[in-house]
Amino acid sequence: NTKEDPDLRKPIIAGNWKMNMTNTEAKKLIGEIIPLVKGADVEVVVCPNLTCLAAAVELTRGTGISVGAQNMHWEPKGAFTGETSVAMLKDIGVTHVIIGHSERRAYFAETDETVNKKVLVALENGLTPIVCVGESLGQREAGKAADVVSHQTAAALKNVPAGKADRVVMAYEPIWAIGTGKTATAQDANEINTVVRETLAWLFGSEIADRVRIQYGGSMNAKNADELMAQPNVDGGLIGGASLKAADFSKIVLFGK
Ligand code: PGA
Repeated sequence: NTKEDPDLRKPIIAGNWKMNMTNTEAKKLIGEIIPLVKGADVEVVVCPNLTCLAAAVELTRGTGISVGAQNMHWEPKGAFTGETSVAMLKDIGVTHVIIGHSERRAYFAETDETVNKKVLVALENGLTPIVCVGESLGQREAGKAADVVSHQTAAALKNVPAGKADRVVMAYEPIWAIGTGKTATAQDANEINTVVRETLAWLFGSEIADRVRIQYGGSMNAKNADELMAQPNVDGGLIGGASLKAADFSKIVLFGK
């Protein structure tokens, strides 16, 4: 249990800014976040739009804050208009990449298969993938949440070498909770995060599974973060709306304080 042994899994709080913030606005927001999260004993990641990544890397240098992209392509280069390669991200100092967010699955034809290709490429190239899984409202109401999430987890991590599996960050994001103001109860979040960990144990063994950070995401905010983060299998948060305000995001980063 990480709450007894915090060294096992350092909590990771990531802001998913989605398609918000111009470069000018992003620089201002990062400038506001930096002093507020100083000294936090969690890993802090900001994931602005592609056009802000280079500036974000420069601004956060030496602050302990990492910068993540919201997506990337699996091919190393070539005729893929509008896409971004892993080398392009690495070259500017990006260290994390969100993969398989439900919005990308729903609107941009992301599938378990493309998610898996991207995860493998991220790991091969030393980027930390933040891999999103989560059920729809219909799937939850049909009692299939655990099955769906377990299946998505196994599909996303197919062929991941056990030696690299503990570098993956998982994010359980029930689709019905994203951007809706409806948060999973802390118990529900912990229950499905536990399913994710059990799936990881089945894939890689429990010793590795115990080292993987599993975030919760979906209307996580400054008010509910303490309770969610207190759950034994919630090791962080992937924050959308609340990550766009420095005061709210920093309160989440400083959860429990
Ligand atoms: P939300 O988004 O916090 O606005 O619900 C979370 C996410 O989609 O990562």
